[in-house]
Amino acid sequence: MAQAGLLGILIAFLGICLSSADGKPAPVLPAAAREFLEAHNLARAAVGVAPLKWSEKLGNGTNRVVRFQRNKMGCQFANLTSGKYGANQLWGSGMAVTPRMAVDAWVNEKTFYNHADNSCAPNHRCGVYKQVVWRKSLELGCAQATCVKQQVTLTVCFYDPPGNIIDSLTVCGTIICPVINGKPVRLCLQEGSQSSPLILLDLPLNTSAFSSLIKHGMIRMVFECKCDSAGSKEPLLSNPQWVMYCNGLKMGLARRRELSWKDEWLLEMTRTVSAGAGFLPDKGSGGHKYLRGQFEKVPGSGSDHSQAYHLIDPSDSFGQELSVFFLRH
Ligand SMILES: *[C@@H]1O[C@H](CO)[C@@H](O)[C@H](O)[C@H]1NC(C)=O
Ligand SMILES: *[C@@H]1O[C@H](CO)[C@@H](O)[C@H](O)[C@H]1NC(C)=O
Ligand SMILES: *[C@@H]1O[C@H](CO)[C@@H](O)[C@H](O)[C@H]1NC(C)=O
Repeated sequence: MAQAGLLGILIAFLGICLSSADGKPAPVLPAAAREFLEAHNLARAAVGVAPLKWSEKLGNGTNRVVRFQRNKMGCQFANLTSGKYGANQLWGSGMAVTPRMAVDAWVNEKTFYNHADNSCAPNHRCGVYKQVVWRKSLELGCAQATCVKQQVTLTVCFYDPPGNIIDSLTVCGTIICPVINGKPVRLCLQEGSQSSPLILLDLPLNTSAFSSLIKHGMIRMVFECKCDSAGSKEPLLSNPQWVMYCNGLKMGLARRRELSWKDEWLLEMTRTVSAGAGFLPDKGSGGHKYLRGQFEKVPGSGSDHSQAYHLIDPSDSFGQELSVFFLRH
C-alpha cells in the first residue's frame, strides 16, 4: 500500500444535509475521531483559528452517508448538494487512507489558495481547505468506509455551521465617543468580538458633532484613501489616512491609530455586547459612550479598491441605517 500504489484521490466540497439522531454522548472519542479532529485543529491553529469540537451527531450523519455509499454506490462520492452542513469528501483508490491523510489532502489545497484576494489557482478546489479552517464552523464529524473489491476508501466530514458562505462576512463595528468634548470619536471594525481590529480610526469629529450627525435617519460614511501610488499595493484597510465624508459632506481627515491599552480595555468591556449602546465610566478620561452593532460586508465589495459595510441589526440604540465605505482610486 505504498504511495506508488495510489491510483487516484478525488476531492469534493459541497454544501449539505442530513438529519440527526438523538442519544447519549460518548465520553471518550474513538481513535479515528481524535485523528480527524487533531488534523483539523492543527491546520486551524496554523492560521490562528480556534479549534473545532467533535460532534457525535455529525459523526453519525457522515457514518450513514459513507455506509450508504459503500453498500449501494461502490464508494462513489455522495451527492450532498442539499443540506445544512458544510461537507468535504475524499475518494482514495489503491491505498489505505487514514483520517490524517484525508485531512492533509484537503489542507494541501492551501498551496493554491491566495488569502489576499480570496482566489484559487486554476483547476484546484480551495473550498475544501477553506472549510477546514473556516472560522465560523464550530463542530466536526467525519467517517470513512472502504469498498474492498474496488479498493476505494471514501472519507466524508461534516461541518457546522457550514463554511464557504460566499461573501457574507459579518464584522463587529464599534463607535467610541469620549465624553470629554473635543477628543475624536473612534471607529473600530473587527472580524470577531475578540479579534484585533481590521481598522481603528480617529474620526475628524468630536462627540457633540457626531451626536448631531446621527440624529438624522440614515448615515453614509465614506472614507477615501489618501494614498500615493506606492501605498496602493498594501491591503486597503491598512492605509493610515482617509478623507472622511458623511452623507456627502466633507468632514476632514480620519487617521488610523494603533491600538492603545485604553482602546483594548474599551473593546474588552464591550466584548459581550453584540448590538447596543452604553456608557463606560472611567475616572481619568471622563468616560466613553459607545455604539456597537454587526455589519455585513457587502457581497462583491471585497476588492483591493473598495469595501462596503452595512449595519445589519439596527437596535433601538442605533435606530438608523448606517453604512461605511472605504475607497481607493
Ligand atoms: C450516534 O450513533 C450511536 C450508534 O448508533 C448511538 O448510540 C448514538 O446515540 C448516536 N448519537 C447521536 C447524537 O446521534
Ligand atoms: C444531487 O441531488 C440534487 C437534489 O437533491 C439534484 O438536483 C442533483 O441533480 C443531484 N446531483 C447529482 C450529480 O446526482
Ligand atoms: C466639536 O466640533 C464642532 C464642529 O467641528 C466644533 O464647533 C466644536 O467647537 C467642537 N467642540 C469642542 C469642545 O471641541
